[in-house]
Amino acid sequence: MTALLSLENIACRIDGAAILEDASLNAGAGEFIGLVGPNGAGKSTLLRVAAGLQKPTTGVCRIDGAPAMTLSPPERARRLSWLPQAREVAWAMTAREIVALGRFAWGAAQRENAEDAAAVTQALQEAGAAAFADRLAHTLSGGELARVHLARLLAGRTPIILADEPVAALDPAHQLSVMKLLRAKADEGRSVIAALHELPLAARYCTRMIILHKGRIAADGAPADVVTPAVLRDVFDVNANIDLVSDVLRIHLDPLG
Ligand SMILES: Nc1ncnc2c1ncn2[C@@H]1O[C@H](COP(=O)(O)OP(=O)(O)OP(=O)(O)O)[C@@H](O)[C@H]1O
Ligand SMILES: [Mg+2]
Repeated sequence: MTALLSLENIACRIDGAAILEDASLNAGAGEFIGLVGPNGAGKSTLLRVAAGLQKPTTGVCRIDGAPAMTLSPPERARRLSWLPQAREVAWAMTAREIVALGRFAWGAAQRENAEDAAAVTQALQEAGAAAFADRLAHTLSGGELARVHLARLLAGRTPIILADEPVAALDPAHQLSVMKLLRAKADEGRSVIAALHELPLAARYCTRMIILHKGRIAADGAPADVVTPAVLRDVFDVNANIDLVSDVLRIHLDPLG
């Protein structure tokens, strides 16, 4: 498998605190990787390093073999799309204008050609945001705005998709459709990494899961191998009952004790 994205022995220290330690992974075409871990485990930091937005203290992130920090922002944006966890919109922009930002690295800042327009329209439809394409972003509900940002992510049509909590704030039906969509993007040959707190959804739709615990990769593999009662107890402080029913992991969580 050729890695579209690779992280090699990444460490991040901020003010002396170890946020990430010795994190390595290769993400290839066709993979939908669920990055899970408790609050503060380092998921967003790892994704920011992978996106080339944060320089690691040691280690290197490569995109298509090139060190991420050496790529210009447009070069990076043509290879990967990035959905940050914080998504405030400070300007009076319509949903469609926000989604069109996903085409800027392809030249749409100067002119929007037919391919840009088609990519924006398709992304709005895929993310379930077409109905409010012409609304100003600040008038949208939290979940509607989340789907607009997701459409912006898809509009770039990049080989690598990095999404920090793409289903947070979505209702159950939209959580399912977005996870299905991200899996379909991986099945098309893209490489998708998403930070997720929804363990059952991650186990169902991801091809691979990585568990981050206190800045270190605690487990990396197929969901059925990684999501175990012992890991969930040690990493998430929960009691888990897990069954495999028709190839789908059923996960029931209870507090410890
Ligand atoms: N700039 C910073 N200065 C100080 N501490 C930071 C900084 N950025 C991140 N941290 C700390 O690093 C740790 C990891 O943060 P990160 O945002 O990567 O966690 P996360 O796994 O994404 O958590 P969540 O599930 O809550 O989003 C946290 O303890 C956070 O407080
Ligand atoms: Mg985070």
